[in-house]
Amino acid sequence: MLPGPGSGAGAGCGTGVMAQDKGTTAGDGPLLRLDRITKRFGDFTALESVSLEVERGEFVVFLGPSGCGKTTLLRIIAGLEPQTGGLIYQDGHEISALPPGRRDYGIVFQSYALFPNLTVFDNVAYGLKSERRGNRHIAGKVAELLDMVGLPGEAGKYPGQLSGGQQQRIAVARAIAVAPGLLLLDEPLSALDARVRVHLRHELKRLQRRLDLTTVMVTHDQAEALTLADRIVVMNHGVIEQVGSPPEIYRKPTTPFVADFVGTMNFFPGVVAGREGIRLGDLDIACAVDGLVEGEAVTVAVRSEDVLLSSARSAADNRLTVVVEDLDFIGSYYRCVLSAAALGELKLTADFPVNFMHGVRVEPGAEVSVTIPGDALHVFSRA
Ligand SMILES: Nc1ncnc2c1ncn2[C@@H]1O[C@H](COP(=O)(O)OP(=O)(O)OP(=O)(O)O)[C@@H](O)[C@H]1O
Ligand SMILES: [Mg+2]
Repeated sequence: MLPGPGSGAGAGCGTGVMAQDKGTTAGDGPLLRLDRITKRFGDFTALESVSLEVERGEFVVFLGPSGCGKTTLLRIIAGLEPQTGGLIYQDGHEISALPPGRRDYGIVFQSYALFPNLTVFDNVAYGLKSERRGNRHIAGKVAELLDMVGLPGEAGKYPGQLSGGQQQRIAVARAIAVAPGLLLLDEPLSALDARVRVHLRHELKRLQRRLDLTTVMVTHDQAEALTLADRIVVMNHGVIEQVGSPPEIYRKPTTPFVADFVGTMNFFPGVVAGREGIRLGDLDIACAVDGLVEGEAVTVAVRSEDVLLSSARSAADNRLTVVVEDLDFIGSYYRCVLSAAALGELKLTADFPVNFMHGVRVEPGAEVSVTIPGDALHVFSRA
């Protein structure tokens, strides 16, 4: 069943658009399906044939650099921007051409989009009023929502009397008030200071789990994506580069772009040297080279935290003597720039946890031994 028209709750104001009757259509299949969505602004292609399915109760995060098309895709899902081509299905129904008011979602934007002249109570109650329920029902519902977002005593305040973090919690309460089938979030935490952001991140995740709320969030913040998402959709220049769980995206990036965008990665040009590994400068590196042919040019990637300080006596694979060129104290670790005769001009960035540095002299000019486990190497064909 399609949701009825969301009367009054203008999506342009960042308020949820509601379904009239909940719980009657727990259909099968994905809650949201995007089928070859394309968007052009004049000659410029912002999205190119983006296809994706979002399962019920799933938290999906669109992650990518500025301008890659994240917001455009979210706005197309919301009906706030028409797609140039492609189809959208929600709960088994095609909604590609439905106006925002007839779609079933709540939305929160980066900047606080609360009504400044309405109290917190009236902001949260805004969508509920158009459901034509009694005042007692609305008051009870608002109290429950304010409790849920951790602001039980603030109903009488105006948005201007709240902090940014509090305003975003109210925006979330307003977006979920009418129990939308889908929650859309466009960088909802990025205007907040770091501490509040991390705190709200956890609250948002708890709330999403508790309500089993299918959620699509946009961010360019990798830490946010890794902590919140069930699945991350990494985007680049209007296309999807990779879709996967946070550990998959982090541990098994399928393209150099994904490897580079998430975490700190070293890249080196190499050549496949038989079945055992890669030749990198004057160095033979043991690692898996499945699907690659001998002599093939490759890019080898290794994360800074996968370069391990080793005792010179250990007999580990891929051991290398390096010279510390430079180091920065980051707190729990030192970020070191390393050089090695075998690597020529190329430098290696390594993060050494402070707790593993006892008894090792790590300072500019010092010679240390490092190992790179073969399974920590990512090898990409350059073909
Ligand atoms: N109305 C518009 N007219 C023309 N070009 C647009 C319009 N809206 C977006 N674009 C372009 O489409 C591309 C994608 O924009 P979008 O806002 O989706 O990026 P984003 O991934 O959300 O970036 P950010 O992280 O900076 O918010 C950008 O190059 C942008 O300049
Ligand atoms: Mg954006």
